[in-house]
Amino acid sequence: MSPTSPPTTLFDSDLMSDPHGVYDRLRQASPVHCTTTPDGAPVWVITRYQDVRAALTDPRLSLDKANARTVGRYQSSMPPELDAHLLNMDPPDHTRLRRLVAKAFTARHVENRRLRIQASTDELLNATTDQPADLMQALANPLPMVVICELLGIPAQDRRDFRTWTNSLLGPAPDAAVESRTAMREMHHYLLGIIAAKRARPTDDLLTAMIEAHDERDSLSESELVAMAFLILFAGYDNTVNLIGNATLALLLHPEVMAAVRDGHTPVRAVLEETLRWNPPSTLGVRRFALENLTIGGVDIPAGGRVWVSLISANRDGQFEEPDRFRPERTPAHLGFGHGIHYCLGAPLARLESEIALTSLLKRFPDLQLAVPPGNLAWAPSFHRRGLMALPVIW
Ligand code: HEM
Repeated sequence: MSPTSPPTTLFDSDLMSDPHGVYDRLRQASPVHCTTTPDGAPVWVITRYQDVRAALTDPRLSLDKANARTVGRYQSSMPPELDAHLLNMDPPDHTRLRRLVAKAFTARHVENRRLRIQASTDELLNATTDQPADLMQALANPLPMVVICELLGIPAQDRRDFRTWTNSLLGPAPDAAVESRTAMREMHHYLLGIIAAKRARPTDDLLTAMIEAHDERDSLSESELVAMAFLILFAGYDNTVNLIGNATLALLLHPEVMAAVRDGHTPVRAVLEETLRWNPPSTLGVRRFALENLTIGGVDIPAGGRVWVSLISANRDGQFEEPDRFRPERTPAHLGFGHGIHYCLGAPLARLESEIALTSLLKRFPDLQLAVPPGNLAWAPSFHRRGLMALPVIW
């Protein structure tokens, strides 16, 4: 394959090592690219900003896996008992569930976490002694796990299991399929138990708030509660790890921006927003299924076709001036948190947590530097996550 031609099979390409380069070539070649997944299923990848934005509000694109039947094979890796959550639902089910869950995700709930997040960040930064150190291990990995477990109300003694399960589900291992099935079974069992315990003895946390969330007609069913807890853990954990890691890396690669942040000329929030555009934490797009025969960008997609709406590609489209440059002074309408009815419910929490992490890091270590040449940094070997294996720094 020439470096300028688009890959025919996305998954045989250098998508893991150079997602931006691969998507760049796809965008130039065609607005919608048909490829196959490693299990042989066809998938249509939408790459350009305007098409992506339109697709995210297109009611003819469904999140419900049941609509995948007609074309190709679609094998979900998730057990059905963890499926009843927002990212597998269309209206009216999605509307009902989101309304109920949103009650537990209020600004008050998020703001209530501020002091705890700050305390956890300080604790992690106080524990740093190694020189050089891996910032992923020291801060970016542990902080979101503590925050998400505290938010949900997972007791401290159970968090080690959570970390193990999450790593089995996300990590590349030779026997990953077996490991991740075991992890899902164990986590499912654990969540059923803790929900029953909180029903009996309510505490001040998100799980209890979701158990108690109801309106005059409705409340969350047992399977919806379990699946939502599972979604929040996964949607909330790994993405935030990689937002903290990728934003720190962006600062280390752009010392002039780092100086502007330190001097108070550039807000940390602007760095985070530009990171969500320039190098967001997830590589693949969000998944949809065509409810009918569609034509997008002049390309036909059959009913039942599996579609990836590529946020990472849209975020580097010519819609943005100098899209490949990291320029936090822009106020980009990036799509890093999605768009439309499925817009990330946890965005305020992810922003707060990452802002506290970066602000505290720069305050404590104003001379933070990369400890290795940028070319030596390794990205996670995953089609899903855009995250560093390690970020060696000199504090
Ligand atoms: C949905 C990204 C953090 C909970 C989404 C979507 C994106 C996204 C792109 C839309 C998916 C789609 O349209 O199919 C991110 C990123 C994060 C992050 C980049 C961190 C940097 C969080 C956190 C939580 C969370 C911390 C919870 C604590 C959710 C939920 C949904 C969602 C529940 C489903 C919303 C719905 O379908 O109505 N997220 N997320 N996310 N996110 Fe996040």
